[in-house]
Amino acid sequence: MTKITASITAVHGAVPPNKLTNEDLSKMVDTNDEWIVSRTGIKERRIIDKDKALSDLGVEIVEGICKKKGITPLDIDMIIVGTISGDHRFPSTSNIICDKVGAKNAWGFDVNAACSGFLFALTTGQQFIENQSAKRVIVIGGDIMSSVIDYTDRATCIIFGDGAGGVLLEPDEEGFGIQDSIMKVDGAGREFLIQHAGGSLSPITKENVETPAMYVHQEGKTVFKFAVTNMADVSEAIMKKNNLSSDDVAWLVPHQANLRIIDATARRMGLSKDKVMINIEKYGNTTSGTIPLCLWEWEDKLKKGDNIILAAFGGGFTWGAIYIKWAIG
Ligand code: UT7
Repeated sequence: MTKITASITAVHGAVPPNKLTNEDLSKMVDTNDEWIVSRTGIKERRIIDKDKALSDLGVEIVEGICKKKGITPLDIDMIIVGTISGDHRFPSTSNIICDKVGAKNAWGFDVNAACSGFLFALTTGQQFIENQSAKRVIVIGGDIMSSVIDYTDRATCIIFGDGAGGVLLEPDEEGFGIQDSIMKVDGAGREFLIQHAGGSLSPITKENVETPAMYVHQEGKTVFKFAVTNMADVSEAIMKKNNLSSDDVAWLVPHQANLRIIDATARRMGLSKDKVMINIEKYGNTTSGTIPLCLWEWEDKLKKGDNIILAAFGGGFTWGAIYIKWAIG
């Protein structure tokens, strides 16, 4: 019997038009462009309008993918959304997107794996294609980080931005698509990157509303150390597991958290900079959105058969890498 693989057959992205530059931030907190660029590589990020949410970006993505493929939302079997900042705690943003686009034959759910959200959602979608219970799965990764960031905290507000991207997964009988993945979690790292209030352990109360507990808390130095080691380790591991040399890899698609983490991962994989997708300067860290946003922006440069490694590290801790043989072109 022919093996069915899950291949990416369309990509789309969505970012809000409003820009928040380093210059803007330097008027809000004690920081400056030189510090932000040299420590992170970020120049600006996008911030969504107050009356909009993640599902609005999701709608743009689903409609964009349908247009590219000549299909309608009724042709979609599932929509899976990797995010930590959906429209509501519940219902899931997947449900809301299905309703807004009229994907009446689809079901889906959200996946919470912080910055690794897109990778975890993608491997989840892969299972439904491979076991042939779904033929068209849209996997979206995106976050509205401006909804959970304290814009008086210079340790976090300079890093994060809003944005989302998504892909269509379809069955492939020629061996293209997702080849392998390595996914990891370590809950012992949860205190280092966390939103303390708003969950069942610490619901929003009169006492904690408007306190730092409502917002993202990050111990940057500690997260940085774990991110550099684990993202490089897992990327090297997936290459070794699949007998890939650096010459065999066409592109690294790294989570865009910090240019220094991206550089360290590429160095460990033996890749030159021209094989690494980097757009952190324009969008900052959009959490689950970074990897599909890169795929969207680099879509024209990708060739059928290209070996691509996606890699991420994020809160939880969560991290992982996925090896894909590109199917479009
Ligand atoms: O996406 C999911 C996972 N997240 C990550 O991977 C992020 C990992 N962490 C990082 O990217 C970095 O740790 C940061 C970008 C968050 C911070 O960079 P850093 O090089 O680790 O800086 P630091 O926190 O060690 O701070 C260095 C100095 C400190 O001053 P002193 O103590 O040396 O005088 C900070 O107070 O820089 C100061 N500082 C700032 N200065 C200007 C911290 N934040 C700022 C700021 N502007 N925004």
